[in-house]
Amino acid sequence: MKKSARFENRVGYILYPATFKDSNGDGVGDIPGIISKLDYLKDLGINLLWICPLFQSPMDDNGYDVSSYEDIDPRYGTNEDFKRLLQEAHARDILVLIDFVLNHTSDEHPWFQKALADPNSEERGYYFFRKGRIGKDGKILPPNNWKGFFSTSVWEQIPGTDDFYFHIFSKKMPDVDWNNPKLRDRYYQIARHYLELGVDGFRLDALAHLGKDTSFADSSLQADENGLVYDTDRFSNRPEVLSYLTDFKDQVFSHYDCLLVGEVGGNVTPSTALTYSSFESGPIHMVFNFDTAWANGAYGSIGKPDHEIKTDVIELKKSFRRWYEACNGKCDMPIYWENHDHPRVLSQYGSIQYREESAKALLTTLLFMYGTPFIYNGDEIGMSNCEYEKPEDFFSDVNARNEILSLRQRGFDDATITHYMNRTARVNARTPMQWDRSENAGFGPKPYLNKINQNYLQGVNVQDEYARFESVLNFYRYAIAKRKEPFLAAQVAMGKWDLLDPNHPDVFAYTHEGPELLVCIANFRPYTTYFSFYYNIKDIILHNYGDVIFNNHVFELRPFECFLLKA
Ligand code: NOJ
Repeated sequence: MKKSARFENRVGYILYPATFKDSNGDGVGDIPGIISKLDYLKDLGINLLWICPLFQSPMDDNGYDVSSYEDIDPRYGTNEDFKRLLQEAHARDILVLIDFVLNHTSDEHPWFQKALADPNSEERGYYFFRKGRIGKDGKILPPNNWKGFFSTSVWEQIPGTDDFYFHIFSKKMPDVDWNNPKLRDRYYQIARHYLELGVDGFRLDALAHLGKDTSFADSSLQADENGLVYDTDRFSNRPEVLSYLTDFKDQVFSHYDCLLVGEVGGNVTPSTALTYSSFESGPIHMVFNFDTAWANGAYGSIGKPDHEIKTDVIELKKSFRRWYEACNGKCDMPIYWENHDHPRVLSQYGSIQYREESAKALLTTLLFMYGTPFIYNGDEIGMSNCEYEKPEDFFSDVNARNEILSLRQRGFDDATITHYMNRTARVNARTPMQWDRSENAGFGPKPYLNKINQNYLQGVNVQDEYARFESVLNFYRYAIAKRKEPFLAAQVAMGKWDLLDPNHPDVFAYTHEGPELLVCIANFRPYTTYFSFYYNIKDIILHNYGDVIFNNHVFELRPFECFLLKA
């Protein structure tokens, strides 16, 4: 559906609370810490926040395993702190989306506890319980051969019984059954509660998975060495999802002026995405897809040498074009490089060697694309992947932990695994935010979650970045302000977008039609390349080098050189 006017022209910021700012010295970022940085976010130009889950949680998956939706986790503060956060953010015209986990609860949630304790309870029907199968040797086996997202079977046996429950993420995150109207009602009440409290909307977690193939029949796709099959179509973007969302909208969302951004995952097609979010009939406003997130081949690249990990710029451009062509004029879409589930974009598509140039080029390319831009916390100061020393350094993340165990089982040594995880793990994006040069980069006295990237001592921190005129941070501040100028905002939203030289292997360039052509040109390589350009350059709005080399209609583009210009 169409978002209301108050959500127009917003630049989003994805905030990972556990490692953002610790105000009370317990090692965990918290709500007062976030509040203390709202002026910073305002100054950066941010006017929309997506805050990863703050609810009470045993933190098996760092908050995506919720044990009480009505309570803020004490590590993050109190319910009163949360109300204050809303007030303080709104006072700065920053709208707040909270992360709403709908696909599963924690196994410590009272619903699940009741479901376990009493097979006849209403709550038993909120989850998927099935009997195991008897194997040839008489042992009980899971009800089917499906593998979940975190490298294990989707079934966990309840000790002392032959019952199993279903979970597509960790075993501490049982999936709920959206086909059950009573369960749906529970979620509607929670949504109403937060909308009444003043939240501006939700990022709807793992939305794609609300519908499952409840025949739970074995998959016949290729099994892994443990006999498990990774067949995500069995629990992704199935037709029921649309009807669940439509009911949610009818019962709740349509009664509030809110913004709804769903996570629809890796294998969604633009046309399915459109059914969720089209202006005309979509029950929500926009959906995140993952298509543009792994274009350097890092995913699954264990054992590959670094020089083989190279951004496929042509494919990346094609992905953006595919989505633009499906969505333009029909729905809004979030535009992002990265969130807390991915390695740092600077290490993926950018370059540590050309940190500043590449951070600026990536931002420019992203910010002026059709859609609503979302920036991940830390990218604005050019934060990069961590350089951890051993697999255990990644164990704060259940996904990494399970993946490492499975890689060890497949025979990979620890050095190879560490190298791979330094390249791919989502822990890379969850290191403490680097505020200044003081101990622990000013995050707090003893960050519990992940080790800090030591480059905060070499100037990769907010304070140093502020102080240097040409820094990444100051470029972000300027570029975001430009993005919000009504004239440019309108052209980005309405001017027909197209790739320029789509087959150029190194350069990401595009145009927006308008009274003057808006052109973005970015070299995505750590070496010089050339780019032909036959328009008259009327104005350079953004540029990340001190001078321009342009002769006979050809730009000489130095490593990660980028322009936003009018022609
Ligand atoms: C998507 C979230 O972004 C991710 O961090 C989480 O692990 C899964 N959903 C499960 O909630």
